[in-house]
Amino acid sequence: MPVEIGVHDIAMATTTYRMDVDQLARATGEDVDKYRKGIGQDSQSVPAADEDIVTMAAEAGLAIMDRHGSDDIHTVVVATETGIDQSKSAGLYVHSLLGLPANVRVVELKQACYGGTAALQFVAGLLTRHGGKALVIAADIARYDIGSSGESTQGAAAVAMLVVADAPAIAVIEPAVGLHSADIMDFWRPNHRSTARVDGRASVSAYLEACTSAYGDYARNGGLGIDEFSAFCYHQPFTKMAHKAHRHLLNATSMTICQEQFEQRINLSTLYNRTLGNSYTASLYVALSSLLDHGDGLAGGTIGMFSYGSGCVAEFFALKVQSNHEDHLRRARTRELIDSRVPIDYQQYLAQRQYSDVGGGDREFPELTRGPFRLAAIRDEKRVYEAATI
Ligand code: HMG
Repeated sequence: MPVEIGVHDIAMATTTYRMDVDQLARATGEDVDKYRKGIGQDSQSVPAADEDIVTMAAEAGLAIMDRHGSDDIHTVVVATETGIDQSKSAGLYVHSLLGLPANVRVVELKQACYGGTAALQFVAGLLTRHGGKALVIAADIARYDIGSSGESTQGAAAVAMLVVADAPAIAVIEPAVGLHSADIMDFWRPNHRSTARVDGRASVSAYLEACTSAYGDYARNGGLGIDEFSAFCYHQPFTKMAHKAHRHLLNATSMTICQEQFEQRINLSTLYNRTLGNSYTASLYVALSSLLDHGDGLAGGTIGMFSYGSGCVAEFFALKVQSNHEDHLRRARTRELIDSRVPIDYQQYLAQRQYSDVGGGDREFPELTRGPFRLAAIRDEKRVYEAATI
C-alpha cells in the first residue's frame, strides 16, 4: 500500500500590530469600501521593529515543538520571499531558536508565493523515500511602496506544518497535481528593494490564467472533478481574489452552482486572511487554517488547493481531510493571536516601516514584540535573535 504523506499539525503566527483599512483609507483618500468590499480586506498585520520572518517562523514552529517535540524531524524547510540573507538560510536561525538537534537538514525555498507549496511537495518526496517527519514553515511580510495601490494588500504571517509519512492527523496530500509555469513580470522584488514591484492588473490576469491551466493539468493527471471537492483554498493576495478565481474556474469548467453554494465553498477560507492581509507563501496555508478552524463536516472530504506564485509558478492539488482532524486544531490559540494584535494608526505604521529598509549598517531594535522571539540587533552585519522578555 502506498504511504500516506500529510499534515499532522499546523500552527500560525503573525505580528504584534495591526492597521485597520479605515486608517489607510484616511491616508489615501480612498473610499474605505474599496478596501472592505472591493479588495475584501479589513486590516493588515504590521511587524514591530524587532519582528521579521524568522521571529514569526520560530513562533509558529515553537507551537508545533511544544506539542510534538523534535523526535524524527530530519528536515526543516523555510519558504519565504522576504529573504534576510542572500546566502544563509532563514531556517538556520529558526533551527537554533527552536533548539533542534544537529542531525537535521535545513534549507530555504523561494518562488514568490508558491514557495510554501513547493516546500510541502519537496518534503513529501523526501518522506516517501526516508519516512520520518519534516517541518515546513512558510513565512512572509508583504510590503509595497507607500501610496501605491498594493499598500492595501500588505500583511504578514507564518504557518508551520509538521508533515509526516504515517497516519497524518489532519490531512493527506493527494498524489495528483497540476502545474503551470511561465516566465512573466507580474510581480518581482529586485535585491536592492524592500518593497515589491508589481503590475497589479497583469498579476490578477496571470493568476486567473494560471489557475485554469494548473487545474486543467490536474484533471488530465487523474484529479477530481470540480464538483467532487467539499471546499477550496486559493492563494489570497487579497480575499476578493479567491472569489474571482473560483468564479473563473467554474466558468472555465462549465460548472453552474447557486450563489449560496459558491459562498459556502470559499468564505470560511477567507476569514483569517481578511484581517492578516497577504502573507505571500503563508497565505494559502492561512486560508487552510481558516477553513479547518471554521468548517463543519469537512472530515472525509477533499479540499482543492490552488497555489500561485508570481513570476510565475502555480499548482493545483488536493488534501483529503482526516476523520478526527478537529481534535488536532488550535482554534483558541489562533483566535487569541489575531485578536490580541495592537491596533495602530497610519503614522505609527509608517514609524514601524522605517526599520524594514534593506540598507546595511549596524543597529539595535527596540523591544516591542509580544511574541516569544525577537530580532535584537544587527551587529557586524550579523542578525542577533534572542528570547523576548515582554
Ligand atoms: P486598484 O487599482 O487599487 O483597485 O488595484 P481597482 O481600481 O482595481 O479596484 C479594486 C476593486 O475594488 C474593483 O473590483 C473595484 O470595482 C472595487 P473588481 O473589478 O476587481 O471586482 N471598488 C469598490 N468596491 C466597493 N466600493 C467602492 C469601490 N471602489 C473600487 N467604493 C490591485 C487593485 C489588486 C491590482 C492592487 O491592490 C495591487 O496591485 N495589489 C498587489 C498585487 C496583487 O495582489 N495581485 C494579485 C494577483 S498576483 C498574486 O497573487 C501574487 C502575489 O501574492 C505575490 C507573490 O506571488 O509573491 C501578489
